[in-house]
Amino acid sequence: MNAATTPATGHDLGHGDYDLRHHGDAEAVPGMLDFAVNVRLTAPPEWLRAVLVDALGTLGRYPDAGAATAAAAARHGRPVDEVLPTAGAAEAFVLLARALRPRRAVCVHPSFTEPEAALRAAGHAVERVVLPEPYGLRPEPASAGSIPADLIPADADLVVLGNPTNPTGVLHDPADLVRLARPGRILVVDEAFIDTVPGERGSLAARRDVPGLVVVRSLTKTWGLAGLRVGYVLAEPAMVRTLARAQPLWSVSTPALAALVACCSPAALAEADRAAALLGEHRTRLVAGLAELGIEVAAPSSASFVLVRTAGGLDVRERLRAAGIAVRRADTFPGLGPDHLRIAVRPPALTDRLLTELASVIAGASAPALPDRA
Ligand SMILES: Cc1ncc(COP(=O)(O)O)c(C=O)c1O
Repeated sequence: MNAATTPATGHDLGHGDYDLRHHGDAEAVPGMLDFAVNVRLTAPPEWLRAVLVDALGTLGRYPDAGAATAAAAARHGRPVDEVLPTAGAAEAFVLLARALRPRRAVCVHPSFTEPEAALRAAGHAVERVVLPEPYGLRPEPASAGSIPADLIPADADLVVLGNPTNPTGVLHDPADLVRLARPGRILVVDEAFIDTVPGERGSLAARRDVPGLVVVRSLTKTWGLAGLRVGYVLAEPAMVRTLARAQPLWSVSTPALAALVACCSPAALAEADRAAALLGEHRTRLVAGLAELGIEVAAPSSASFVLVRTAGGLDVRERLRAAGIAVRRADTFPGLGPDHLRIAVRPPALTDRLLTELASVIAGASAPALPDRA
């Protein structure tokens, strides 16, 4: 195992070339204008805070996941034995890694790196399938030859990918995802960002007919709950039992379970959907502004961030940092490099500040590079 550290992010690489454990929150120092983190809110809305405060009144008892499991099951039209609440999507990846014994595990990149990191930490070899730009599962009409989905080895018995994908924002067609399923293969679809898509278009959460499908969900992004740790798995009952056996007792806290119940309510779902629609408008504005500056968006995004490719990306990031604006480096994602940056979608007033600063960074690009690119 490679125990080198990267001078760029300072983390123990562990797994060769990319720092899989680098995340956006390491980039957004308090006080900076944050376009690095991809969580919608800095804190949950008032009504949800009230739910959390209410839950404090029962902290003397151990958590009971019954109501939350039932709420998530009802939301997706599934029986309760097909749902497992988890301490965020991240715990689901660890449970999968610890409970499964894949012979050939494949992670599709560029993508969120924790599934691969969890598999490696549990001792599994992981193969990477890196989709070419613009990072879809289908070939671009212009590209000849291989269908990207065919890059996945036929005998892979565990395949992990995200929809929509972080950091590209690509929303795969659910039919393309379903085509990846087959008997003897576990297909993990990370839907942590699916609630940034109006109507959750493309979600496989309600699909009970796809063999080996495991859908991972998160409340983190839409509800500003990164610090609470709450998500869930939707899968066949046998898989849910397997993961539950690997899960530490009372892993999901009472406030987290209360949040899950509340966020499955019709009112919460309607609020999330309105937020997703507004996000789409804000993203359109960001993408248009980037285009005016001649900055290329590397993939069509359906999520709360866009991936851009710009010459000297890391230097652009440093210059923005010097101006108090954080965007996320994307060279820690397998398949991407120093020219890639991930930019969060924010309300127009903030986006305009970013675009103004970007314009002056680009105008000053002929100036000498900043010395410290940590
Ligand atoms: C694609 C994706 N999946 C899952 C997660 C983790 O979600 P959670 O906070 O529920 O563990 C993240 C966090 O950045 C993510 O980007």
